[in-house]
Amino acid sequence: MGYLAKLRVWRGDAGNGELKDYKVEVNEGEVVLDVLHRLQATQASDLALRWNCKAGKCGSCSMEINGMPRLGCMTRMNTFAEDETLTITPMRTFPVIRDLVTDVSFNYAKAREIPSFSPDPSIKPGEFRMQQEDVNRSQEFRKCIECYLCQNTCHVIRDHEENKEAFAGPRFLMRIAELEMHPADEADRRDIAQDDFGLGYCNITKCCTEVCPEHIKITDNALIPMKERVAGRKYDPLVWLGSKISRR
Ligand code: SF4
Ligand code: F3S
Ligand code: FES
Repeated sequence: MGYLAKLRVWRGDAGNGELKDYKVEVNEGEVVLDVLHRLQATQASDLALRWNCKAGKCGSCSMEINGMPRLGCMTRMNTFAEDETLTITPMRTFPVIRDLVTDVSFNYAKAREIPSFSPDPSIKPGEFRMQQEDVNRSQEFRKCIECYLCQNTCHVIRDHEENKEAFAGPRFLMRIAELEMHPADEADRRDIAQDDFGLGYCNITKCCTEVCPEHIKITDNALIPMKERVAGRKYDPLVWLGSKISRR
């Protein structure tokens, strides 16, 4: 049975904006994105929102629903009470372009800064063999749909614009961990993780993991192992001595 949902949607641009109230029809089985599309079709044709797949795979429809970072296309309306007002706002960590659309170019800039996969050039295509557990680890990280909900949630940059320069965020620290743990990657990424991408800012709050729509264990499987590798390098005297000797 349909009902009228109460929505409070942030409308505005980079300069200013406000929450506006709407009542929008909801039908059985619908998700928040369906209802925003109906709002756009019937009452607010200039509402800006980003989406593409409506299947939780493109990572475009990231927004905040009652303050929780979520994908609009994967958030069912029946998870809210019919008389509840849904407050829908853009991701807070990134600059607003208009309405629910934010400028996420920070993330692409960080992605470009990460040195790429560096295999031993003497290994020819088809020669390299990997253990299944190494394949599984990479595959978990590769499920990322680049929705940037983890980046949006991490407190290191969510409330601290000044940290964006020094901190790459969980999605990109995970990428560095993926490469560092890849058996065919020859580069040593421990120093850059700590010094250039701000691994030390992460205090393992796990908020990134909680919001990941792909259920990637970002903290446990990428950030903590990466921290252990960095700590082993920096504080274990034997590891430190070994690294000095092997460099000669
Ligand atoms: Fe989104 Fe998860 Fe990828 Fe972060 S790690 S960008 S939350 S899919
Ligand atoms: Fe931020 Fe995730 Fe670390 S939320 S503090 S990157 S565990
Ligand atoms: Fe593609 Fe929501 S529209 S993830």
